[in-house]
Amino acid sequence: MKKFMTSDELARDDRFTRTPVPLDFLMAEEVTVEQVEETMNMLLSNNEMREMMEEQGGASGNLFKRVRPTDDEAPLFIKTQMHGIFMGEMQALEAAGRSAWDFTDDKELPWAFQLDMARQCWDETRHVEIYSALLDHVDARIGQFPENLFLFEFGCSNDPAERVVGVNRCLEGLALDVFNDTIRFGKQAEDETIWRSVDYVSADEVTHVRFGSVWSRALTENDPKRRKKVLDFQRKVDRAFSLGGLRGSYDGANVEGFLPLAVEFRKLAGFSDADIAEVAGAAPKIVKA
Ligand SMILES: [Fe+2]
Ligand SMILES: [Fe+2]
Repeated sequence: MKKFMTSDELARDDRFTRTPVPLDFLMAEEVTVEQVEETMNMLLSNNEMREMMEEQGGASGNLFKRVRPTDDEAPLFIKTQMHGIFMGEMQALEAAGRSAWDFTDDKELPWAFQLDMARQCWDETRHVEIYSALLDHVDARIGQFPENLFLFEFGCSNDPAERVVGVNRCLEGLALDVFNDTIRFGKQAEDETIWRSVDYVSADEVTHVRFGSVWSRALTENDPKRRKKVLDFQRKVDRAFSLGGLRGSYDGANVEGFLPLAVEFRKLAGFSDADIAEVAGAAPKIVKA
């Protein structure tokens, strides 16, 4: 079986469509507000959503704030949210599957590494099923919105220490933020199916983030050069996943900002205050066009 697959080799059936990975935007050290809007528009929307944004005067109006269950855009918001997470779970499954398989020739990697990655695959498979059921629950269907492969694309380095940082620490860390936001929405909406299911999945994600912290440390022990390289990679991926800084002030107490960091979840998963500050500071600089 092939090792080190690229994102365009991931198999999907004809229900799915893809938008291109906005590589330049996600890697930029400086972005403009217009670029952020344009990219988010491309990443998040199907035609229905685009029309709604245009009616409301552009993307910034509803993308830079949190959506409440009573807002007009709430039904569409929760459908895109569930669909985005569903696709993220698929990519997490594919990334963990790759991590279990790509490095089987690496004599330095202990067997426990592959076991942890296999355990993650098992969890992600369950998550894909849970979110498939949640898509039914919010009256959305698989393939209703386009997929973007940037999670897989950025997470999957060919160095195992970077891989666990990209996939487990950065991708899964972002998942914790998204889940925290979704639990909050579910509770506000008094939708127990949503918040209990997402809370249940979050418990697994905490374990996956821990795998990232533990293995990235173990694999760079006594090798400061490699550790620095891995940290640089981590900063690059954190910056990409800050989505152009759109995610706001990252203040756990901020109830209006779009997708703040899930500080409690991240601490459960082994993030220190300094780690959290690092993620919060990872966004590119927003400059005038
Ligand atoms: Fe997951
Ligand atoms: Fe996960």
